[in-house]
Amino acid sequence: MAACPPVVVLKDLAVTFDSRFPISRRQVLLAGAGLSAAAVLPIGPAPSATPSDEHIIASPGQASLAGERRPKSGILAYDGTIPGRLLRLRQGVPVRIAVENRLSQDTTVHWHGIRLPNAMDGVPGLTQPPIKPGETFTYEFTPPDAGTFWYHPHAHSLQQLGLGLAGALVVEELEPVAADRDLLWMLQDWRLGNDGQIAPDFSSMMDAVMSGRVGNTVTVNGLLPSDLPLRAGERIRLRIANAALARVAAIRFEGHRPIVVAIDGQPCEPHGPEDNRLLLGPAMRVDVILDMQGEPGKRYAVIDDFYDGLSYTLMTLAYDEGPPLRANPLDAPMALPRNPLPEPDLGNAVRQEIILQGGMMGMGKLKGMGGMMGVATPGMDGGPAWAINGMSMTGDGHAGVSPIFTLERGSTCLITLRNETAWWHPMHLHGFSPLVLNRNGASVPHRQWQDTVLMAPKDVVECAFVADSPGDWMLHCHVTNHQVTGLMTVFRVT
Ligand code: C2O
Ligand code: CU
Ligand code: CU
Repeated sequence: MAACPPVVVLKDLAVTFDSRFPISRRQVLLAGAGLSAAAVLPIGPAPSATPSDEHIIASPGQASLAGERRPKSGILAYDGTIPGRLLRLRQGVPVRIAVENRLSQDTTVHWHGIRLPNAMDGVPGLTQPPIKPGETFTYEFTPPDAGTFWYHPHAHSLQQLGLGLAGALVVEELEPVAADRDLLWMLQDWRLGNDGQIAPDFSSMMDAVMSGRVGNTVTVNGLLPSDLPLRAGERIRLRIANAALARVAAIRFEGHRPIVVAIDGQPCEPHGPEDNRLLLGPAMRVDVILDMQGEPGKRYAVIDDFYDGLSYTLMTLAYDEGPPLRANPLDAPMALPRNPLPEPDLGNAVRQEIILQGGMMGMGKLKGMGGMMGVATPGMDGGPAWAINGMSMTGDGHAGVSPIFTLERGSTCLITLRNETAWWHPMHLHGFSPLVLNRNGASVPHRQWQDTVLMAPKDVVECAFVADSPGDWMLHCHVTNHQVTGLMTVFRVT
């Protein structure tokens, strides 16, 4: 489906799974089913309806990313774990999250996909001063939408995200959809050297101009290869988040048919995915419902085969021998309650165009461009590798950027995204979740609202959103190497 990334070492591919992330309050249903304890452990009490306070510490640490027998890798982590602690918030309930910086460099936290006030968006220079080493910054917001989100730094993004700073954030529906278990898989991708350490060459020009830093080791919830123990007849709600720097995943469930119920945290009409595969670019999330209709005692692979010739097993569905929990799939609605997203007024929309340019096989177009340059990435003095509408904003975010366009508050913006490059780009808007209207002329069904839209080479996508939240907002590719070398811009809502 896509060209091989330059540096994937297949034999080193260690895919890990951990079941410490079940997030259900319904585990009782299975408590007597004889599944391994880890698979049904609740991770804490359900969040209450009163305002909550959280504290997160970003610091250096160590983790076994390549297996217990290999040397530990030096990492950067939230609260010492890969991924960071799962944050569970309640829809419509205010939260205060204090972020303490124990790193040796500046950081910020961006709450990816959450619609919040601009000052809480976590972009250094643009929406807040960076959090300096030793400092704490408290983010305060009220999540309007239920769904699956995540958080990550927006300063020194390549290194900080690439060394492990990322966590999942679930905003619970007031009434969750019926499922026996609610599971989360957070995918991360590492480029590990033979010494078990994360390769330090984050600013490689090769990565920047091609597919980004695709690694050689995928972890799920940061842990070692394992099976997902299952009971036949279960209904599982599975939330998958791709927190990789650059790796795109195309996930297939052998013998099973996932039903997509939300994309990027936003509910859609329940539907089976195209080709029965879940296509997840970096930063994207998908919620699926899986009715486990496999045979007791059998094992089924969950496979990621996005890169030609480099497919691997992400997880194994391991059915126990027990009799099915129920004879037929659970007869309960799958559709999630819709979030209070404003409906775009397409008849009166302001049209904007975002053209992605550059990269290998497209760099010529960047020559002589009078684009704006930001802070150069270390080792990238060769200039920007990418541009949006002829302008290259590099780095992670900074002050004094003139916006690519300005929208009046309350207006509907219809964006045409045009990928003129030879590479894939998950294009991300901060602050808004646009409704994806059509792709290459064909209308996109199922009412999909996405904060991150994966663009294949040469794709043209139209999407629309209501500019209801004032401020300067980022729009960038979430392949971090692309972002920091020019595939980034800012738009303004006044
Ligand atoms: Cu998750 Cu500016 O990004
Ligand atoms: Cu974001
Ligand atoms: Cu990109």
